[in-house]
Formats: sequence, C-alpha cells, structure tokens
Amino acid sequence: MKELKTVLNWLQSSKQTVILTGAGMSTESGIPDFRSSSGWWKNIDPQTVAHITALENNYDLFHEFYSMRLSTLDSCEPHDGHFILADWEKRGLVHTIATQNVDGFHAKAGNQNIAELHGSIQNFRCHRCESQATREAFLNKEKCPNCGGKLRPNVVLFGESLPEDSWMKALNAIREAELVIVIGTSLEVYPVNQLPMMTKGKTVFINKDITSNANGFDLVIEGKAKEILTNINLLLTH
Ligand code: OAD
Repeated sequence: MKELKTVLNWLQSSKQTVILTGAGMSTESGIPDFRSSSGWWKNIDPQTVAHITALENNYDLFHEFYSMRLSTLDSCEPHDGHFILADWEKRGLVHTIATQNVDGFHAKAGNQNIAELHGSIQNFRCHRCESQATREAFLNKEKCPNCGGKLRPNVVLFGESLPEDSWMKALNAIREAELVIVIGTSLEVYPVNQLPMMTKGKTVFINKDITSNANGFDLVIEGKAKEILTNINLLLTH
C-alpha cells in the first residue's frame, strides 16, 4: 500500500510521465507473453518464426505463427489496466505510452500518444515493395498484387531495426520524463531494455516476476499489471 501511494504521489507531481509496457501488460486480456512458463517462446524457437530469415526462407511457418497470433487476438479485449492508462492520459497524468506490444490495445483503450516500438500486428504490407496490404490478403496467403512479394504484418522481426519515428518518440519522451513506469516486460530484448536507464526521472518497475533486471529502479512492485493499476487508481479516485 505504501508503495502504491508513493507511485501516486510521483504520478501527481511529475510534469512528464512515460509508461513503458511489455507483453505482461496484456496477459490479463488473455494474450500469452513470450518468456513466462506459458509464453510463446517456451514451445516455439523465435528464430524459426519471428526472425527475418523465417519470413524469407520459411514463409509457411512464419505465416502459421502470425495467423495464430491474429486469431488469439480476435477473442481478446483491453482490460481495466489499459483503460486506466487511457484515463490517466486524459487527466494529464500520463503523457506517452511506449510499448513493445503489437496488439494495439493501448490505442483501443483510448490512449492517443503511443510509440509502438515493435510495430503493429493489425497492419500489413509487402515485405519487398512495402505496399500496404489487407489482413484478409495476408491470412489468405496471397502474394502482393503490386510485385508478387510476400505479405507480412507490420511487426518488427528479430534481425530488423525498430521504426525510427517510434523509437525517437519514446527516447525523447523518456529523456525528458520526470517519471517512467515500466510494466510487464522481462527487459530481455535490446534496444527497448535500454530505455529505462535513459531517464533522469524516477523509475518504477511493476512486474509479476521480479528478476535482476529490476535492479536500478527507484521502486519495484511485484504484482499483476491490472491489479496494481486498479489499486493505484482507487487511491487516485477515492
Ligand atoms: P516477455 O514475455 O519477455 O516478458 C513479459 C514479462 O511480463 C515477464 O517478466 C512476466 O513475468 C511479466 N508478466 C506476465 N504477466 C504479467 C502481469 N499480468 N502483470 C505484470 N507482469 C506480468 O515479454 P516482453 O518483455 O514484452 O518481440 O518481450 C519483449 C519482446 O520479446 C516482444 O516484444 C517480442 C518478444 O520476442 C519480438 O517479437 C520482436
């Protein structure tokens, strides 16, 4: 409780707050994360499905994996935690959401200032000529009507760079932030795992499992994203 009050005090006094989220932000919506015991990478080697070489050399497996991710997403919705972050943005308490998630749930919940650092699984393009494509064309395994190239979701694959506009937006916001709250990420993946160290502001880490990657944060809270955000929000609104 004391820790939650501290977060609330910091949130209310910070003139620039950034929230950095990972897959743990969306597990309570029913979307698996990557590295937990029930995560995608426990049963599947990411190199075989989520690396640029998978797309180029093993398109069937790549396509199967992302089709499965899309179908999982179809039955899931943002949870209270996402809606609380959207409300905090409306109240002027949160200024930027930087996310590794490709599910689009922060936008669906109502946040507006979002940096999607690993792209979006809701948009599609041709891998070769970059023309936009539809979800339907991707799911039907069609070739690009423009150049015959392979269609893909607009996600960042291993071996690819992050979208520069999103990266710069997140980096600039974090550099200027007085408070950075990191939620539901293992902080295993470069370069996003460098971002929390790039602020001069206070840092909070909220995660279900605390590892040595939490070292260096000003405040570490062990718990689930939805539950912790709900409890902080209760303190704010009562
Ligand atoms: P990970 O699966 O690596 O980490 C998710 C973290 O969230 C773990 O530390 C979990 O303990 C924690 N967690 C799970 N459920 C939670 C909950 N309800 N509340 C709080 N914490 C919870 O996912 P990311 O760190 O997001 O990239 O992974 C980073 C990147 O690796 C992903 O964007 C993806 C993946 O490979 C690409 O595919 C390029």
